Amino acid sequence: MTSPLSVQTARRRTFAIISHPDAGKTTLTENLLLAGGAIREAGAVRARGERRRTRSDWMNIEKERGISVSASVMTFEFGDCIINLLDTPGHEDFSEDTYRTLTAADSAVMVLDAAKGIEPQTLKLFEVCRLRDIPILTFINKMDREAQEPEAILDEVAQKLALDPVPLFWPQGSGDRFRGVVDLRTNDFIAFRRPKAGETGPLEHVRTPLDGYAIAGILTPAEQDEITGMAELVADSYPAFDVASYREGHMTPVLFGSALRQFGVTELLEALRDYAPSPRPQKALVKETATTLPAETDEVSGFVFKIQANMDPNHRDRVAMVRLASGQFKRGMRLKTGSGKQIGVHNPMMFVGQDRELTDEAFAGDVIGVPNHGVLRVGDSLSESGTVRFSGIPNFAPEILRRVLVKDPLKSKHLRKALTALAEEGVTQLFTPEMGSDMIVGAVGPLQFDVLVERIAAEYGLEVVFEPCPFNAVRWIDGTAAALDSFANRNKSGIARDLDEALVFLGKNAWELGYVADRHPDVKFTHIRERVV
Ligand code: G4P
Repeated sequence: MTSPLSVQTARRRTFAIISHPDAGKTTLTENLLLAGGAIREAGAVRARGERRRTRSDWMNIEKERGISVSASVMTFEFGDCIINLLDTPGHEDFSEDTYRTLTAADSAVMVLDAAKGIEPQTLKLFEVCRLRDIPILTFINKMDREAQEPEAILDEVAQKLALDPVPLFWPQGSGDRFRGVVDLRTNDFIAFRRPKAGETGPLEHVRTPLDGYAIAGILTPAEQDEITGMAELVADSYPAFDVASYREGHMTPVLFGSALRQFGVTELLEALRDYAPSPRPQKALVKETATTLPAETDEVSGFVFKIQANMDPNHRDRVAMVRLASGQFKRGMRLKTGSGKQIGVHNPMMFVGQDRELTDEAFAGDVIGVPNHGVLRVGDSLSESGTVRFSGIPNFAPEILRRVLVKDPLKSKHLRKALTALAEEGVTQLFTPEMGSDMIVGAVGPLQFDVLVERIAAEYGLEVVFEPCPFNAVRWIDGTAAALDSFANRNKSGIARDLDEALVFLGKNAWELGYVADRHPDVKFTHIRERVV
């Protein structure tokens, strides 16, 4: 028998990993799966990536450039918990995809390279987490290599992120001199050891009381004195860990470890189990009334945070990744979007470990894949009654704009259809100026354009070319009807509409945006737009 809704909900932990490329996200993902028993040997995540790439002949870019464009989810059990690890693309050109995925996460793990500390992409992703009050656990990785002093890294976290770091571990040395960590919560020492030649399985790391008899065989007396003194000092210098403060986004518990050497990885899962929030209540409009919808609400609801295209290239399928926000979902249910579209969910998928399988049920916090033929788009809300609408899948003002043309001028209607469909999936954004017949696409990173060209060629048989356009910066604009009218009259050539008909202003550059914004204080310029659907 299935446990009650509240018990099922309380078991779920849905999180994403944020990091700068190369900090070790893939390695950590793989070792989390290994520690959770979802895979048996290291190398599987990468191998899966390879397999996927060779299968997806439509997406040669992935293969050529050796990057994974698609993001997905991996579900596995850890003790009583169901862990949903949301995978995000590593390449920063696809950060929009990552931002959207973060809207589906209840918490995040921030991975820092112990030698490098906070890097630009970490900072950007952190800001998105802060915007959404997503609590963050910090994993300081690669302690088996020469690292910065732990205090220096924690200071950087405090200063750059305005977040209170609370070490749960304190490391003894790094690189060749890395001996392990004190678990400051228990005063145990967890000894680090490198794998022996040919050893591949999960590595055991001995845990023993720091002041016990057994430690003598692990640390020299001098090392034991040093780390004991440090542990006392550290306990006095940092605040005590407070789960409530972490969940409110003020404090971040910090673990030191090595993803590659499977050190600290099980403890990270334990921290997620013990501290990370179960599915959070979601802000929503229910029957047009603003409310916060608890995950234990009976009505099934959720939202599409990603469209995964062409998982199976033979079928040109579209799978909407739906993060369930409340209720107990059952296979075969009919769900409605806020705008009245209906969909019978007969073949919902879950992504267990490394595989996708048909699922009969799912709960708040879970992600189900809903195959459809372009009915669902990114940001759509789904619920049984169709009266629940979530806001919050953000669009970010693109940083690169291009005019797009089709080589055969007779096909420009087809081009619009393709650009609209791909914008609905979130591949790129589409803007239509009020004057003229241009179609302008916007992206955060240039690789998004490459994906667009490939997909338009493969799926719509159109050859497109990009041309530089006079605009390089875009903002959504808002204000009273009169203010917008007068603004539009004076700035005709820069007025355009996005996919949802929302007004935007296209400027030649950031300077012009600032100049125009200053001259129209009654019009609000924003670089993020959240749809309510
Ligand atoms: P990413 O997904 O964040 O981009 O990083 P990824 O896991 O691919 O790791 C980047 C590099 O850092 C990889 O080395 C990986 O093996 C290494 N690495 C990750 N975690 C640790 C760790 O705890 N200790 C050490 N010493 N190295 C770590 P690479 O040489 O670029 O790739 P590979 O040839 O080893 O696969």
